[in-house]
Amino acid sequence: MKVIVTRKQMEAEAIASFELAAVDGAHLPPFSAGSHVDVRLPGGITRQYSLCNSPDETHRYLIAVLRDPQSRGGSLAMHDAVSEGSELEIGEPRNLFPLAHEAKRTVLLAGGIGITPVLCMAERLAQIGAPFELHYCSRSIEKTAFVQRIRSSSFSQNAHFYFDAGPETERFRAEKVLSGYSSGDHLYVCGPGGFMDFILASAKEHGWDETSLHREYFAAAPTAKEDDGSFEVQVSSTGMVLNVPADRSIVDVLSDAGIAVPVSCEQGICGTCVTRVIEGVPDHRDMFLTDAEHARNDQFTPCCSRACTPRLVLDL
Ligand code: FES
Repeated sequence: MKVIVTRKQMEAEAIASFELAAVDGAHLPPFSAGSHVDVRLPGGITRQYSLCNSPDETHRYLIAVLRDPQSRGGSLAMHDAVSEGSELEIGEPRNLFPLAHEAKRTVLLAGGIGITPVLCMAERLAQIGAPFELHYCSRSIEKTAFVQRIRSSSFSQNAHFYFDAGPETERFRAEKVLSGYSSGDHLYVCGPGGFMDFILASAKEHGWDETSLHREYFAAAPTAKEDDGSFEVQVSSTGMVLNVPADRSIVDVLSDAGIAVPVSCEQGICGTCVTRVIEGVPDHRDMFLTDAEHARNDQFTPCCSRACTPRLVLDL
């Protein structure tokens, strides 16, 4: 879809929001809380951004982007090369981080820019009257987006802010938030990788069941390893066998052979490329599948994962 940036606004230090509308003014496809869109950026790269406006709105999508000089270029392109009036190409909203509406209680945890899908979830839960709490961690109030929107919301009494750079009393304490798990509770976390790993590990320590933990990563650490070797993949429908050299991904090799596996993030976070494995053991390098799904070894993400066995037979 072609969209136009109708508004660009700073929401906090280094965080800008972008309001997107259809170029022809048409209604935009619907979405649900937790959804994201793929945005094709100037320079040809594609990035995923969570939608953080109300799903009841059909005239606009709202995304927010942290300007991160360490990133691989997506956030800099959004901040520096996109302005009001810019036209962008985006994909239809997809939801890989949906709310479990049957939850008895929902705990929402956001780290920094991870607030974007989480805020949409909080507003949805407030709208349907579901019990929830929002815990929002950031470095300082200056770096915290959407403070006013949260403080003036109907759920402000359920929202808690924590600031790492503040005094001890303002910092997040996992045991306070994560103890008291009972069956039917669900936890959603989004933010930087280290924050999410800490929250998920703490939740497990406090007895949260793996199936009640939901996560959405923004960016993955590089997955290539120095001792990566070559291996083979076999396409089960045709029997074709391809060699995957140490320096290439499985999707690239398949693509060269005319077999297109749909991809989006190409770094193991979105799940678009998940493919069934019929034989062989994958070397999982994604952050999309759960530990239990990894252990089953019957599916994997060929955009970044590799093989532990000499050959993988793929359901393609
Ligand atoms: S393309 Fe996103 S996980 Fe593979």
